Amino acid sequence: MDRIHITGGAPLNGVIPISGAKNAALPLMIASLMTGETLELVNVPRLADIASLSRILGNHGVDHMVVGKRPGQTTETGQTIRLTASNIIDTTAPYDLVSTMRASFWVIAPLLARFGEARVSLPGGCAIGTRPVDLLIMAMEALGAQIEIDGGYVVAKTRNGLRGGDIRFPKVTVGGTHVALMGAALAHGTTVIENAAREPEVVDLAECLIKMGARIEGAGTPRIAVEGVSRLHGARHEVLPDRIETGTYAMAVAMTGGDVTLENTRADLLHAALDVLATTGAEVTTVPDGIRIRRNGAGIAAVDVTTDPFPGFPTDLQAQFMALMTLAQGRSQIRETIFENRFMHVQELARLGAKIRLEGDLAIVEGVERLKGAPVMATDLRASVSLVIAGLAAEGETQINRVYHLDRGFEALEAKLGRCGAQIQRVRS
Ligand code: EPU
Repeated sequence: MDRIHITGGAPLNGVIPISGAKNAALPLMIASLMTGETLELVNVPRLADIASLSRILGNHGVDHMVVGKRPGQTTETGQTIRLTASNIIDTTAPYDLVSTMRASFWVIAPLLARFGEARVSLPGGCAIGTRPVDLLIMAMEALGAQIEIDGGYVVAKTRNGLRGGDIRFPKVTVGGTHVALMGAALAHGTTVIENAAREPEVVDLAECLIKMGARIEGAGTPRIAVEGVSRLHGARHEVLPDRIETGTYAMAVAMTGGDVTLENTRADLLHAALDVLATTGAEVTTVPDGIRIRRNGAGIAAVDVTTDPFPGFPTDLQAQFMALMTLAQGRSQIRETIFENRFMHVQELARLGAKIRLEGDLAIVEGVERLKGAPVMATDLRASVSLVIAGLAAEGETQINRVYHLDRGFEALEAKLGRCGAQIQRVRS
């Protein structure tokens, strides 16, 4: 298994290009199932999760083409893919595929809306919490689907297509909102989604669906109205920048010190996180087409954070922020409200010398003067990258195992950090 070796202590200086958002690209790819015409997606990151979803869509019969490189493109400028679902051969998403990537459960909505049936495996457990799909099923039922659970599969059917309905989520769910949007776009009549997720990735999906002919109003607010149409057509859409990758590198610079410009990204995608970073003492400025982060000399101030749905502080940056707080001057409290088991990085950060105490959903971090490198490993993507950040700031060598988690969500991680002065290498084995 590959490992990442880091020799910590070097500040980061330079430019990091930000990739297209994994969590936007995944639902956009799934939306290709909603039309027999071609959906062209630009700025799709080269990640293991994208490759897994391509395989899953291929299993349904979706034709997948990667457009050849154009002059000036590098492996880090993302790829352009064309997805065509003109010939669906299978409306079943099997366990061995869905269990590798939870988001693939979302195929249930387009399959049901377009073909009147879907048989999708329940995804099973997950390293960051139980992550049920009850609200996604509730949304499909509100659109008139008949649903049964059979042999670990959700078997969904409609007699005469989906019908518009009122969907009120008791709790904000990104996946639930994606599924509701895709189902409602091809349902007969009007759907109102209340307490919808406001995440930028939801807005990106809605914008792509609108280009495909859907009638959607209010994406980005808690109330989305969808007027169903009978068919959608092909479109071309550029995936929005990855706000979690942006925030991750911003936190790395805040921790190691230095001066880095994050290119091809937008501050409005992560205001809450950037505001918190500025309070810790980092200098955050917006520049044309990006964000500049600097921290020179000054210490890191301790700041309390609670994760929340957008526009709040994202759960996907909680582990990285905790890494930063391990070197803060004083005590900070980090509360995780989205997932019940997302503190798996705590014990690994402790191996580097961090002082963190857990009390239920609260982590109390006592800043220390220095971290010291050690071998560590993590159980999910964001926890793994928090260890990378901590390793960059720690004294000596850190070795990160289970690199496949990082490959799921960070495009060209070592190359991007290496060019900014980080001593980071992948050791293949
Ligand atoms: N929930 C339910 N029932 C449901 C659905 C969700 O109880 O039917 C709960 C979840 O267990 C969780 C909360 O609602 O406690 C929010 O979950 P949500 O549905 O919003 O999460 P998701 O759609 O499964 C996406 C991202 C996650 C990100 C969350 C929250 C993708 C592919 N995944 O997951 O990203 O943490 O939203 O913002 O978009 C990651 O990229 O590392 C990652 C985990």
